[in-house]
This record gives sequence, C-alpha cells and structure tokens, in this order.
Amino acid sequence: MEPVKVGLLGLGTVGGGTVNVLKRNAGEIARRAGRGVVISHAATRDLDKERICDTSGITLTTDPFAVVNDAEVQIVVELIGGDGLARELVLAAIDNGKHVVTANKALIAKHGNEIFERAQAKGVMVAFEAAVAGGIPVIKAVREGLAANRVEWLAGIINGTGNFILTEMRDAAQGSASAAGGGTPGAAKGRDFAEVLAEAQALGYAEADPTFDVEGIDAAHKLTILASIAFGIPLQFEACFTEGISNITREDVHYAEELGYRIKHLGVARRTEAGVELRVHPTLIPERRLIANVDGVMNAVLVKGDAVGPTLYYGAGAGAEPTASAVVADLVDVTRTLTADPENRVPHLAFQPDALSDLPILPMAEIETAYYLRLQAIDRPGVLADVTRILGDSGISIEAILQKEPVGDSEATVIILTHRVQEAKMDYAIGAIEALDSIDGEIMRIRLETLDAD
Ligand code: NDP
Ligand code: HSE
Repeated sequence: MEPVKVGLLGLGTVGGGTVNVLKRNAGEIARRAGRGVVISHAATRDLDKERICDTSGITLTTDPFAVVNDAEVQIVVELIGGDGLARELVLAAIDNGKHVVTANKALIAKHGNEIFERAQAKGVMVAFEAAVAGGIPVIKAVREGLAANRVEWLAGIINGTGNFILTEMRDAAQGSASAAGGGTPGAAKGRDFAEVLAEAQALGYAEADPTFDVEGIDAAHKLTILASIAFGIPLQFEACFTEGISNITREDVHYAEELGYRIKHLGVARRTEAGVELRVHPTLIPERRLIANVDGVMNAVLVKGDAVGPTLYYGAGAGAEPTASAVVADLVDVTRTLTADPENRVPHLAFQPDALSDLPILPMAEIETAYYLRLQAIDRPGVLADVTRILGDSGISIEAILQKEPVGDSEATVIILTHRVQEAKMDYAIGAIEALDSIDGEIMRIRLETLDAD
C-alpha cells in the first residue's frame, strides 16, 4: 500500500523531532500502522535556518496554507504554536477533508470545542496526544484505558519548564539552608530563576512566550484538556484558576521541606457534587508521595478512577523526541483508522459529543484545601496569639506552626500549616492578619494537597 502523506507545519523543536523519529523508526512505524507514514511537505518561516533534522525528500515552503491545501497531503501535523494562525490552518485542513495531528494545547484548550465540532461534521480526526504532558500517553490512558471508570479527580505536574525551575530552586535551597532561618525571602531568587528559565529555553522546553510556563497558563491549557476528557465536559479554559510560580522563594521551598513537603506546580481537577474544580497553582505535597519526587523536565499525572483507584503516569513532559513520540503515535492511530467508519471512532473528548455534561466549574472561593502560610512578624509578645485568634475566629484549625528565630533586629518568620478550609474563609483571615500592625507585608499563601487515595 502507498505510504500515507503527511504535511508538517513547523520544523522547530517538535517538528524537527517528528521528522527524526519518523525517519529513524520508519520500519517499525509501518509495521504498526499497516503502511508507511512519510512527510511529503513542510512549512517553516525561514527556509535557510539550520534544522535539527534532515529535510531531504520533503517539499519545503514558507506558505503553510500551501501545505494545508495540497491535494497529496492526507494528514496535517500542526507544530507552529499559538492560537491565531494555527486555528485558521487547522480549520482549513478540516474543511479540506484532512485529518489533523497537533501538539498545540493553547489551540485545543481555547478553540477545541469549535475544532472538534467542525471535524465531526467533516468526518475527520483531530489527534492531540502531545498537547498534554509531552511524551506521556496520558490522553489515551484517560480517554480509552480508564473508560470503565467514573474519574473522581486528577492532579498533575504538567509543565516541564516549571518543574525544571522548581527542582533547580530546591537544589539551591538545600545549598542555602543555613541562610534560610534569617535570610530575606526571595534574596538572590531572581537570578536563579532567570538563569534556570534561560536554560529551559535553550533546551527547547519553554513556550515561545515563557510566561505561559512560569505563570501557569500552559498548565491551565493542559488541565482544561485533561478535565474535559476525564469528566466529559466541554473545554472551558477561561474558567480555570491559574497561579504561577514566580512568587515562590527558595526559602518557601526549604521550609516546606523542613515540614516534610515538596512544592510542585500542580494542576488539579476534581469532580464534586456542586461542580468541577479546575485549578493550577503551586502546591505543597507530602514528600512520601511518588508525584512529589518527580523532578526536572519530567511530568506526572495522578488519576483517581472509582474502579481502578489511583493511577500514575510519568515521563518526559517536553523536548524534541519525547514530544515527537506522542505526535508520531497519533499519526499511527490516524493512519490505522483512515478507512474506519467515522461514526465508530473514539470521540475527541472521550465522551460522545451529544453526551457532554454541563457541570459548572466552581469559583476558587468555594474550593477547599489546606494551606501553608508564611508571615513576617515583629518579635514581641502576643503576636502569635493575635494570628491564631483570627484563624480560630475564621473557623481555620492549625496543623503545625514553625517559628524561625529572628537574626539581630529582624522580624521573625512564622510558618503555619492549616487543615482544609474554604478559600473564601482563608481570604478573609489573611486580610485580617495582614491588617495587624505587628505583621509586615503580605502573607505568602501556598495551597496544600495530601493527594490521599480516597
Ligand atoms: P518552535 O518555536 O521550536 O517551532 C515552531 C516552528 O513553527 C518553527 O519551525 C517555525 O519556523 C514555524 N513557524 C512559526 N510561524 C510560522 C509561519 N507563520 N509559517 C510557517 N512556519 C511557521 O516550537 P516548538 O516546536 O517548541 O512547539 C511547537 C508546538 O508544540 C507548540 O504548540 C508548543 O506548545 C507545542 N509543544 C512543544 C513542546 C516542546 O517541548 N517544545 C512539547 C509539547 C508541545 P522557523 O523555524 O523557520 O522559525
Ligand atoms: N513548555 C511546555 C513545558 C512544553 O515546559 O511543559 C510541553 O508542553
């Protein structure tokens, strides 16, 4: 049988990796797909740029619409990024009756509902395994492997760049542990942060705009997708609560460790009676949890199904070939089902399009978690009593308190871990504590999840 012809949009980190993997493993891939899979056309901005892959045999162009409109091309692989031009190209490909593979989580999270509806009407597939957690086949696992389950919750480290930065900060915090007792929170952090981010960019992990990684936008895109396939709800990126890691200091990393926790940038989606929690924020996790020990660019997603219990998916969350692994797996999947009846394909969002649920996404104020609080207090009698009285009056019970002795005339650093409480109550208590004249500056608040199996 003739090989299937693929048109590639983008020859950067993931595009280059995809060319390399397809060429290197061509024989294995053809044995799996039932026919060869070859890239016949590719679009880039700059035809003279040095590439990480060999482009011989590929017709190159700077016009991505030429690829999308080429009659030979059966599958379009979108690896340009962004959600403007990429949306136009993907919709044009679908209108031309071509199947689409993409690694673009921003595109799927923001425009997936429209794209899937159009694809359904045209009877074509849009595959997006690489859009979540790089090389980990977590979409396939949740969509197909866990199809028997009522998924209760999931929690994931789903941004490789952010995890790489937090891991490097942890190493630095361990090195500077002796300074943590009286040091200025955040001192020297800016330099560390910028250096590590620059390294993640050089390694091809970061988004074109790295604030997407650092501020949690990229993780929110991915969490939006995961929640939709886990709970059978439409994609609702705008409703996802998003907090980044740029305020986390090495001192917080160190104090968390003293208390037996690791700080990870977590995406959490949970189904409750009232609706769905959808939130990305830095989170303290007990260090005994496997997911707390996922370091560097590695990602992990913990999914709790009612039948299977907790399951954990782990692997490289970014980078050329790990991401290409997911892109090429999608190409194999699409190739295998090219001739299948479109009505009998796996639905894009795991559930049949007319069976999606209208469960609301809950506002953050209604969500319950435990908390880590760090505050700077003037070292005088009665200060801690004032703080604990406000917490008690707000119905917040304390799990642990750690007070760091002030160095010289400086203020004492107080760390408090609380039990679970509604976010709205915590907002009120933080406001009241910050208003005390014995408390200096803003309180650092990091949410805490124990990720128990039940
Ligand atoms: P890169 O910036 O490395 O590559 C983007 C490619 O798109 C480049 O080859 C660029 O051309 C090309 N391009 C951009 N605009 C145009 C245009 N107007 N016309 C033609 N070509 C264009 O990005 P990545 O490979 O890192 O990311 C691609 C996608 O994959 C993004 O959606 C990203 O979020 C996603 N992703 C990335 C991962 C990673 O580890 N990097 C992991 C998982 C998903 P040129 O090279 O000539 O400038
Ligand atoms: N910038 C993303 C990350 C790429 O660091 O996780 C993978 O989606």
